[in-house]
Amino acid sequence: MPLMRYGRIYGAFIGGVLVGIIEMIISESYQGYIFSFAIRSAVRNLGYGEELLRKVIDDVREAGVLKELILTSSEDNSCANKIYEKLGFKKGEKLLNEYGWGIDRISWSKKL
Ligand SMILES: CC(C)(COP(=O)(O)OP(=O)(O)OC[C@H]1O[C@@H](n2cnc3c(N)ncnc32)[C@H](O)[C@@H]1OP(=O)(O)O)[C@@H](O)C(=O)NCCC(=O)NCCS
Repeated sequence: MPLMRYGRIYGAFIGGVLVGIIEMIISESYQGYIFSFAIRSAVRNLGYGEELLRKVIDDVREAGVLKELILTSSEDNSCANKIYEKLGFKKGEKLLNEYGWGIDRISWSKKL
């Protein structure tokens, strides 16, 4: 059984080696929810994260199906939050206890 029938997994590769990943599921209202975004620690802060997310935005725009991308982050994840702002995501409400008791998240969205 496919684990992600309604979604996509994107990889970033350097010389054939997987160094980053973005996973997204698609809601019935055509929102793409990015639930994982990571770059291998050895190659962080070199621009690969921004490049990968930019490519995901380009890809979903080109497909023309989704209306919006959404995701959440920790308020103190300055590195990720900088990328979201740079790529035009709008900061939304704070989601209290979203990842369990006392673990809040910030919501982000980008119209496509
Ligand atoms: C978030 C993540 C995917 C970013 O990938 P990356 O390849 O390191 O990101 P980039 O190099 O493209 O961009 C990082 C930006 O953050 C900035 N940055 C790094 N550390 C920072 C900090 N502590 N405070 C503020 N900005 C910071 C960098 O200067 C860079 O901005 P710039 O290009 O304008 O100079 C990566 O850090 C990661 O895998 N983190 C762990 C998992 C995670 O937190 N995922 C996000 C979940 S919401």
